[in-house]
Amino acid sequence: MSLKTPVVILNFKTYLESSGKKALDLAKALESAGEESGIAMVAVPQAIDVYRIKNKTNIPVLAQHIDAISAGGHTGSNLFESFLASGVDGTLLNHSECRMTLADIAEIVKKTKEAELISCVCTNNIETSMAAATLVPDYVAVEPPELIGTGIPVSQAEPEVVEGSVSKVKAINKDVKVLCGAGISTGDDMAAAIELGAEGVLLASGIIKAESPKDALLDLVSKI
Ligand code: G3P
Repeated sequence: MSLKTPVVILNFKTYLESSGKKALDLAKALESAGEESGIAMVAVPQAIDVYRIKNKTNIPVLAQHIDAISAGGHTGSNLFESFLASGVDGTLLNHSECRMTLADIAEIVKKTKEAELISCVCTNNIETSMAAATLVPDYVAVEPPELIGTGIPVSQAEPEVVEGSVSKVKAINKDVKVLCGAGISTGDDMAAAIELGAEGVLLASGIIKAESPKDALLDLVSKI
């Protein structure tokens, strides 16, 4: 499955505003902002909300994380095959808040390819973006951890990390798309990201905590 770019990927994380019934409300806000703007919008809810959102909306849904385990005795883990059965469209991997080994990332990227699902590997700097690109996921999303949740947009505070990731990743494989995230919330932030060569954004708190997530999403894509 491939997504139209530019793309907006909203990581629901574990905020109360994006959990339980509110997860579905937020997914519906994404769906309606996506329909109004014509921009692809993707939900990344907690594992327990994936099935419900897939069944009640038409938007692509990614898992926040999948464990590199095989079926069997692994209490508390996220099994690839269970997500597949839930109808999920793909997964984030290696988010700063859920780091993985390179070998485990490679294993899940391979499984997503076999199942024709989307893979988005998160990275924290240019070097890890390069390492991720060698695995040929659909997306590499670079997010300097120190800016996550601060409201200070990476596209304005550390443009060299975005630009550097784009040029190095494209030199490794031009089919891998680069996204950026951390502190992104406004139309100016997203426009700056696109200007730097990113093909979309991965974001969370700026939209999840907004008074009207739908209005915040429409503002986010208003300048591209
Ligand atoms: O996965 C997106 C994320 O880490 C960025 O978070 O709250 O800075 O938009 P935030």
